[in-house]
Amino acid sequence: MQIERHRYDKLFSTPLLRYQVADPDGLNTTLLEEAARMRGATGGVSKSNRGGWHSEGNLFDQDAAPITTLRSSIEAALEDANKAIGSKAKPDALRLKLFGWMNANPKGAFNAPHTHPGAHWSGVYYVSQPEVEDSNSGMIEFLDPRTDLPHWRILKAAPFRLKKKLRPQPGEMILFPSYLVHWVYPNETEGERVSIAFNATYKAARR
Ligand SMILES: [Fe+2]
Repeated sequence: MQIERHRYDKLFSTPLLRYQVADPDGLNTTLLEEAARMRGATGGVSKSNRGGWHSEGNLFDQDAAPITTLRSSIEAALEDANKAIGSKAKPDALRLKLFGWMNANPKGAFNAPHTHPGAHWSGVYYVSQPEVEDSNSGMIEFLDPRTDLPHWRILKAAPFRLKKKLRPQPGEMILFPSYLVHWVYPNETEGERVSIAFNATYKAARR
């Protein structure tokens, strides 16, 4: 008896998209200046961050030039991501709410595992990311949300890996579904890791 595979569907995949801002150095310099100004003005809040500084309120309520520039890059990336997943929703039928905050993680600081319930896309833009060799310092890691995966480990198959880590560079932005558990390895360097995280939530546009 012979048998042939005639189809292989990948069900329920989770997209992770990476974007590069063109010539990000000027933007990152002005974002760091804005971060210094905000840190001088407010004490910050404690959320999933352990150590370090987390800005208060919605970063996108501010109209500082680098924030509005970043906001338009985020909106362009979201539009592309919706296209990439084959969204059939008409852009004018959607109302986007963007909520963002800035994280500054000095040596030893990290972000504990968490999700961003209630949003659609979550993302991170990297303002500064200290260079490291052979270390997990500053890496973001995503955990597979499927259950009973450890049982599959014996098959050593890439589609059933439990987690995926990456270290985006300054000027890069990543987007992922907000349900995905993620965390950030402690910063082992003397430099600060500065990032801007955001949640994008869609509602039906009022007509
Ligand atoms: Fe997060």
